[in-house]
Amino acid sequence: MPAPKWTANDVPDQTGKVAIVTGANSGLGFETTRGLARKNATVIMACRDLKKGQAALEKIKKELPNANVELMQLDLADLDSIRHFTEDFKQRYSRLDLLVNNAGIMAIPYRQTKQGFEMQFGTNHLGHFALTGLLLPVMLETPGQPRVVTTSSGLHMIGDLNFADLNWSKGYTPQKAYGRSKLSNLLFTYELQRRLDAQGDKILSVASHPGYAATNLQTAGAIMEGKKFRERMSLLMNSIFAQSAEMGALPTLYASTAPDVKSGQYFGPSGLLEMRGYPKAVDSNKKSNDPELAAKLWAVSEELTGVNFSKSLVGQR
Ligand SMILES: NC(=O)c1ccc[n+]([C@@H]2O[C@H](COP(=O)([O-])OP(=O)(O)OC[C@H]3O[C@@H](n4cnc5c(N)ncnc54)[C@H](OP(=O)(O)O)[C@@H]3O)[C@@H](O)[C@H]2O)c1
Repeated sequence: MPAPKWTANDVPDQTGKVAIVTGANSGLGFETTRGLARKNATVIMACRDLKKGQAALEKIKKELPNANVELMQLDLADLDSIRHFTEDFKQRYSRLDLLVNNAGIMAIPYRQTKQGFEMQFGTNHLGHFALTGLLLPVMLETPGQPRVVTTSSGLHMIGDLNFADLNWSKGYTPQKAYGRSKLSNLLFTYELQRRLDAQGDKILSVASHPGYAATNLQTAGAIMEGKKFRERMSLLMNSIFAQSAEMGALPTLYASTAPDVKSGQYFGPSGLLEMRGYPKAVDSNKKSNDPELAAKLWAVSEELTGVNFSKSLVGQR
């Protein structure tokens, strides 16, 4: 249970630990990286755009000159890039204590990943599913209690899984597609937890959400569509209603580092409607806790990504 006003200062010392944070150049990923680096973790900033990644790394280095941060290229919308990233990582590192599946896009116009999946489902869920599957063998070899922390959203509640059309060939709605991807993040987190538990493994699978935090997430869709008014409205809403990215990253930092975290837990802000505030354990909806749905999504995700967890998880059904 988090202390009532748990902050990034409460992150325990991370000396010797190796972490990967996806989408580390911006918003919550940047703040998560900063929070971990400040407590001496080695953090691999996994970013799709190396220029933006480099600027973010330099910002952290300016504040924390001794920070152990490294930039690596990762495009979650491309399975080849994910494979390349994991191979590269395994050549350089022999342990992985923490994988933060944070990167994401929200409510964008219809786009497809390199392999033809709808972009939000493909990036937010399938990309992280594949990444986790490919990195799990390293985590299983890592001493201590490694963690996989996956960022979801309160909007998982509007999510639905239509297995007949996961790629939205009909009736694409940007918000609903986002909801589907965020529901999938939770189904994945809990199913991973069940499968790890089934083989008595020590790895924790945990989820988090930031409430409403002012980041680039809210304007990305409007910018892609060239909708200036919508972009300005989103910025205005952010300035009035959202909390800072620093506050939004706290549930992820808590899930990633607090000693009392248990596998299968979900953390979000403690304030009204879980929109802002310090981290606390929260609940997710009934659908996200449905083991049958989760098992089906898992099987489909293995098929779509070609990443099979069976080498790591003997408890595969
Ligand atoms: N902010 C909120 O209020 C809120 C609420 C609920 C949930 N969340 C979740 O929080 C997470 C972080 O979002 P944020 O708010 O910090 O937004 P953000 O500032 O837009 O950051 C998103 C990060 O994801 C990266 N990314 C996007 N597509 C990628 C891809 N194909 N491959 C690799 N990286 C990719 C972005 O890279 P670029 O900079 O290159 O675009 C960026 O670094 C997301 O999973 C989001 O769903 C946020």
